[in-house]
Amino acid sequence: MNQDITHYAKTRYSAKAYMADKKISAENLEKVKELLRYSASSTNVQPWHFIIASSEESKAKIAKATQAYPFNTKAIEDSSHIVVFCAKTSIDEEFLLKVLEQEVKDGRYDAAPEFKDRMHQGRSWFVNMHKDEIKDLDHWMGKQVYLNAGSFLLGVSALGIDALPMEGIEFDILDEEFGLVEKGYTGVLVVPIGYADKEQDYNSRTPKSRLTYKEILTEV
Ligand SMILES: Cc1cc2nc3c(=O)[nH]c(=O)nc-3n(C[C@H](O)[C@H](O)[C@H](O)COP(=O)(O)O)c2cc1C
Repeated sequence: MNQDITHYAKTRYSAKAYMADKKISAENLEKVKELLRYSASSTNVQPWHFIIASSEESKAKIAKATQAYPFNTKAIEDSSHIVVFCAKTSIDEEFLLKVLEQEVKDGRYDAAPEFKDRMHQGRSWFVNMHKDEIKDLDHWMGKQVYLNAGSFLLGVSALGIDALPMEGIEFDILDEEFGLVEKGYTGVLVVPIGYADKEQDYNSRTPKSRLTYKEILTEV
């Protein structure tokens, strides 16, 4: 039976231990990729790149970046796949035109071609504002990547896949291991995915805890 999405919001959790021999199927992996690709971003700018690591060699590279956070190492070793969420380190005209061309290919302007130039101007305006006026372009791009990660966590849970978002990573080491900076990216979040080992995973047996509506919500 299909569940209301709030069911997954309430039952997903950060799984800390994984069954090393249970792997995500090829079919589900395609869906995992779709979740990454179809996330929203401001002005559809998509300032991201993802690494999906599953080989022992790649996992070892990511594990190297957990030496300061040893509580994160085992989940990286035992999970089925690890998604490294990367943000772009800059945005130039060439990239903005690439996004625009993709929108053209996808038929975004078929019904109203006049929106094509307007969209390009609007997107450039936002990017330049963050680059030159607010001077927070890196932060702004990182926020778009985090938005993707948020919808990703909910999305994988609806596929029956467990996940653990990790900030406990030395991103300078991770960047170095994957040569990210030369490619114009930097790692911002690491998310092992797979199937929780519920016997080892205290988190799977403890209830979720969240602040009350009184604290977090104002309805006016
Ligand atoms: C951005 C982010 C970074 C996190 N980093 C870590 C981490 O490095 N290691 C870890 O064990 N849990 C990490 N967590 C898991 C949080 O502790 C967890 O999401 C929070 O306690 C809420 O619990 P839940 O995810 O089970 O609902 C992180 C969560 C988020 C959203």
